[in-house]
Amino acid sequence: MCGIVAYLGREDAYPVLIKGLKRLEYRGYDSAGVALLNDGEISLHKCKGKVSDLESHVGVPNVAGSVGIGHTRWATHGPPNDVNAHPHLSGKGDLAIIHNGIIENYNTLKEELINRGHHFESETDTEVLAHLIEEVRSNTDTSLFEAVRISLNEVVGAYAIVVMDKNNPDQLIAAKKSSPLVIGIGEDGTYYVGSDATPIVEYTKNVVYMEDEEVALLDRTKGLKIVTIQNREKTPYIQELELHLEALEKGGYDYFMLKEIYEQPRSIRDCFRGRISLQKGMVRLSGIEVHEEKWINAKRIIIVGCGTSWHAGLVGEYLFEDLARIPVEVEYASEFRYRNPVINSDDIVIAISQSGETADTLAAIQLAKSKGAHIFGVCNVVGSTISRETDSGCYTHAGPEIGVASTKAFTAQVTVLTLMALAVAQKRNAISAERLHRLIVEISSLPDKVQTALESNKMVEHISGIYKDARNALYLGRGYTFPVALEGALKLKEISYIHAEGYPAAEMKHGPIALIDEEMPVFVIATHGQSYEKVVSNIQEVKARKGKIIAIVTAGEQHVLTLADHIIEIPKTDDALVPIVSVIPLQLLSYHIALMRGCNVDQPRNLAKSVTVE
Ligand code: G6P
Repeated sequence: MCGIVAYLGREDAYPVLIKGLKRLEYRGYDSAGVALLNDGEISLHKCKGKVSDLESHVGVPNVAGSVGIGHTRWATHGPPNDVNAHPHLSGKGDLAIIHNGIIENYNTLKEELINRGHHFESETDTEVLAHLIEEVRSNTDTSLFEAVRISLNEVVGAYAIVVMDKNNPDQLIAAKKSSPLVIGIGEDGTYYVGSDATPIVEYTKNVVYMEDEEVALLDRTKGLKIVTIQNREKTPYIQELELHLEALEKGGYDYFMLKEIYEQPRSIRDCFRGRISLQKGMVRLSGIEVHEEKWINAKRIIIVGCGTSWHAGLVGEYLFEDLARIPVEVEYASEFRYRNPVINSDDIVIAISQSGETADTLAAIQLAKSKGAHIFGVCNVVGSTISRETDSGCYTHAGPEIGVASTKAFTAQVTVLTLMALAVAQKRNAISAERLHRLIVEISSLPDKVQTALESNKMVEHISGIYKDARNALYLGRGYTFPVALEGALKLKEISYIHAEGYPAAEMKHGPIALIDEEMPVFVIATHGQSYEKVVSNIQEVKARKGKIIAIVTAGEQHVLTLADHIIEIPKTDDALVPIVSVIPLQLLSYHIALMRGCNVDQPRNLAKSVTVE
């Protein structure tokens, strides 16, 4: 995690850095800092807290300089405090560095440097890198560019770095391995650097996504030069950004999370647009068609992901088994990567990741690739590392998701997985034309149904007021809605800090039922469909123990009405699509409860949106 931004140009760097850091704050907000270069001096400003705390710390912006670097931190090495905040300076103070990633051998490097007389201010791995680069430069009497390249050969771990030299206001050096880094190319020798393109988009659309083990020299007059750490020259591949500034703004909403919840009718439509044809009764995904044989002959699908993406993967399991009749396993990427899993060349691995940067998911992909499996990516961020590392894939087209708690990315992921399962089911003749057609019709009506589900907002807000002080909550679902129960519980705990658990409704009697008393809210997804009767029996079991029942039901429901304390109605849809509609009130619920408890909805404590460390 951590967000990094840099600017080399003719304007003042400070406003560019601050605006960029605010855009990158989703990557971590433990501390923030900037370093600016002016008249041969580096001015360093950093403090614990958010970018707004940094702004107050700096005061009236009197920080001049047309070269600068900035950082927003998610702490890994050393607690979040002023000293550990980035940027870090080298021993002599000539260099300033920002870093996202983890230098795994930093302890060894640090001990060696201490033995050679270096003294360190912070507990971070990053400061070690600054000292190392400075030492290599003075020992080899070489350029900073070359010194960074040589130093990185000694580093084990992940890094995206930018280095600024007090004595050279015309250059910045950037490098990356495993953590993302994008260079924006402006006019007249102006350069921007960011962990993603969001700090860059309003200045230029021309960007270069750096590859692993590349080092870039950004020079006002000589231009952009890229070499590998093995010193092989590369030609920068300049791409045009497909990102719009409006997508990064709150657009009248108080919080990004609320905006993103309300964007779902549009984001779901964007996700299936051009991929389904009502007339032809077909689903077409080019990412599947290019490797059609692989899908037709697949013996097994393994889905890997983390957090909400893992929950989407669980829905994917039901979809692929139900519709395409392919066995599926869903794995936490972090477990899969260290489990020595059995992977065959006729397996397909689907990696799901909103950010496309999650370190564990990336490592899982690399492992599966090395065993010869076909890798398919489901990512939201265009050009992200995972989208580039996979053999083929399908973007979710949800647009930038900035709230740390994932909402529209989840429904877009599930929409893509539904389309994929249908596209593969067609190819394997596993689905009747009639069911396929019915599902395509249902998919095309999803935006309207999600819009109707959003209209439950007032009722959800009222229910939130009643349960906002709960200490625990239980979420129950069954079949397709079991992953929705997990996702509902995750949303509540991550932004309102209420302990919540999701369970398959029938599993409740094997443990969680012991927790139920008159204080315990139990959120049950009890929509019409295959498991309806069974879930109603589970509701009876909760009621018998005096638990408070809040049921998400199909519009017009009568029976559950008599059992539940509160009901929230959603429109009827096919079982396979219920996850997309039923998660909406649960997203709204966690939003309202978090807000009522005074929590920071967009930036919950200790979390970050893009987890680029193990
Ligand atoms: C973090 C975020 C979650 C997200 C998970 C996986 O934990 O806070 O919202 O679901 O990472 O992220 P990814 O970008 O791979 O979907």
